[in-house]
Amino acid sequence: MSLRAVGLSFAYPHGELLLKDLDLAVPWGTSAAIMAPSGIGKSTLLAVLGGLRRPSSGFVEISPDGGPAHASPETVRPAVAWVFQSMQLLLGRTVLDNVALVGMPRGFDRARAEGLAYVELRRFGVDALAHRLVRSLSGGQRQRVALARAAMADPLVVLADEPTANLDRASALGVAEVLIGQFSRASVVVATHDPAVARLASVAYLLRDGRVETAEL
Ligand SMILES: Nc1ncnc2c1ncn2[C@@H]1O[C@H](COP(=O)(O)OP(=O)(O)O)[C@@H](O)[C@H]1O
Ligand SMILES: [Mg+2]
Repeated sequence: MSLRAVGLSFAYPHGELLLKDLDLAVPWGTSAAIMAPSGIGKSTLLAVLGGLRRPSSGFVEISPDGGPAHASPETVRPAVAWVFQSMQLLLGRTVLDNVALVGMPRGFDRARAEGLAYVELRRFGVDALAHRLVRSLSGGQRQRVALARAAMADPLVVLADEPTANLDRASALGVAEVLIGQFSRASVVVATHDPAVARLASVAYLLRDGRVETAEL
């Protein structure tokens, strides 16, 4: 499996071309960091990759590598999970509620969702906080909860838009490490302007002149 973008071009109405014939492949189980200063088009690229914006040319596919997929996971797993800079958690609810209820895949009853939520909270190192209100958590803890919520749906693709931008250095690196390390059953794309975060990814790219080029960090 891989996430693949082929020949993507994109401009907002009356805007300049932000993506120009961009190619990108993120094999399953690997991560790609997309680096660029503000305003260059990182969020736009993620929006196109995630199907929120339609490219003016080119296409995005989540495809099996080398031949047809048997018992294809894409029929039972949702394609894309998003992680944002501001975590969009329910501040007045517990960590467990945020992960179990908001992240609950369709068809799960509450007990099963809570069981799965504990597994994911443990994976991201915040299971001890399950009964705390999100409001009482640090930024780094909140972002780990957001990752656990994203993991609930067992996505094929994780798109993270500057997920560490609001965090202090140590928390940022901790969050980036689990983001990149714990979604081993997905293609992970993380937009960041932080080279220390990008260095943790399988491959780091610079977004420049509408295309990605491999970055030496
Ligand atoms: N909805 C929109 N409509 C028009 N222009 C936009 C829209 N969103 C972003 N832009 C412009 O596109 C450019 C790239 O934005 P963005 O993708 O958010 O960059 P980055 O995430 O790298 O900071 C910027 O010049 C921004 O002003
Ligand atoms: Mg952005």
